[in-house]
Amino acid sequence: MTPTGASLGAGYVVPEEERRGFAGGTGEENYAELVARLSHQSVVKHFDAYADVPWDDPEFRIDPDDPRWELPPDDELGGTAWYRSQAPGLRSRIGLHMMATFMKIGLQFEGVLKEGLLEFALGLPNGSPEFRYTYHEIIEEAQHSLMFQEFVNRTGFDIPGLVWWQRLGARQVVRLGRRFPELFFIFVLAGEDPIDHVQRTMLRSGQAIHPLLRRIMQIHVTEEARHLCFARHYLREHTERLGPLRRFALAIRAPLILAVMAPLMMRPSGQIVRAYGIPRAVIREAYTRNPVHLTRVREALCKVRELCIELGLVTPVARRLWQVLGLWEPLSLGLTA
Ligand SMILES: [Fe+2]
Ligand SMILES: [Fe+2]
Repeated sequence: MTPTGASLGAGYVVPEEERRGFAGGTGEENYAELVARLSHQSVVKHFDAYADVPWDDPEFRIDPDDPRWELPPDDELGGTAWYRSQAPGLRSRIGLHMMATFMKIGLQFEGVLKEGLLEFALGLPNGSPEFRYTYHEIIEEAQHSLMFQEFVNRTGFDIPGLVWWQRLGARQVVRLGRRFPELFFIFVLAGEDPIDHVQRTMLRSGQAIHPLLRRIMQIHVTEEARHLCFARHYLREHTERLGPLRRFALAIRAPLILAVMAPLMMRPSGQIVRAYGIPRAVIREAYTRNPVHLTRVREALCKVRELCIELGLVTPVARRLWQVLGLWEPLSLGLTA
């Protein structure tokens, strides 16, 4: 691994996929070569959830009273008068509880992702370079899920994560892996891109980050660079071959998926709102009616949106939908009421 000058924190290594950009399919490298390179990268640069995270190091111990778990003042909820008026121990618990919830939702998303990737791989012909890459990605996601669940366990919070209707929707997504892989990979990007964006923003922010959280995020963003790269190039390679009906379905369903996925990683769950008695007015102030939050959501989705434009999926009808869902300026409505 080659350290670079990028400032995502001590020990962070900029992934090769990121240094080379995501334009590997243009010019020097074709799609099959790119997939082979990503597979090779998975062999030479991968992490183990237990070998590469010093869970039992005293420095890595989780203390719910640790002020490093507090939400910073520039966080949407962290900046509200309600949050700042809470006792320090409660502020840090809310921050830790939110982080643990994001980890739980992250591993549930990765569970759907792994099942969908298995479905996708089952439909591939012999000799497909994507088969090997897909299995590398499934293995990496399994390591991520081990990390995330270990983190959740060590916080001591009992977190359900997704609610019943979200789990029901997730079951439908798994089948897309074989039946409609282009839509499945839009779902993949809708989950992975916002998580990646949030983690990179935190690592770059300069705020005091607990070393355990920093290590988990460094590992995650390094491997996610490959996953994002593959999903984008898969879509570039295959979307143009779709018939008009499937293209239409992709154009309409992409913003709907994004509108559901992004808030999961960018707002407190219902469990947290209830557990800490966060008033509705505070949720409105911090999220629903906060232009800063809505701008951040759009920023987190910016790369997926640009890809959809590039793929010709933002037709006039689809664009109107993006706007109504609050995913495109000018803002017409909030994401959720
Ligand atoms: Fe992951
Ligand atoms: Fe991933």
